[in-house]
Amino acid sequence: MKKRIAIFASGSGSNAQKIMEYFKKHHDAEVVIVLTNNPEAYVLQRADNFEIPSHIFDKHEFYKTDDVIRLLKNLQIDLIVLAGFLWLIPQNLIKAFPDKIINIHPALLPKHGGKGMYGDRVHKAVLEAGDEESGITIHYVNENFDEGETIHQSRFRIEEGDDLEMIKFKGQQLEHQHYPKVVEQVLKKIKSE
Ligand code: GRF
Repeated sequence: MKKRIAIFASGSGSNAQKIMEYFKKHHDAEVVIVLTNNPEAYVLQRADNFEIPSHIFDKHEFYKTDDVIRLLKNLQIDLIVLAGFLWLIPQNLIKAFPDKIINIHPALLPKHGGKGMYGDRVHKAVLEAGDEESGITIHYVNENFDEGETIHQSRFRIEEGDDLEMIKFKGQQLEHQHYPKVVEQVLKKIKSE
């Protein structure tokens, strides 16, 4: 049986898009559901375009019930992929999927991570720090924001004159290039549910 992926995203979902594309005709794995906390998220449209079902939850459902876990278990999900998902993953979900939740962060962790560090704030911090390079980090998820074990990093140089938009663009290129392949690698190490 193919390995089964669930994607969590809160916004545009360009990474989700790349992952859905990559696994659309894949032999060994497929994206079976997209979950979001945000009913307005463009990722819902993207999921629709791939005819992948989606589920929207609110704070109560996510933090006070086991409904999301039950849904993921019923779907026999092997790997949860966070792609621009902004809420902290609750302990019960981490326990239910040990070493089976991964995230992508648009900087070289442990630099420029933690609560509140997402989107443009990350790139702004990179610029303000005067860093000579930035990049992306793909990591396992634990109970703290951006602190699980690193699986993959790729980096790019920050050239003189690079502004926030340029840094964001360079990072996004790397994300789109690497995230689907890293998901594939991680899946190879996981036994089917
Ligand atoms: C990405 O930069 C990712 O690193 C971060 O959130 C952003 C999501 O972008 N976690 P998108 O919704 O995939 O376009």
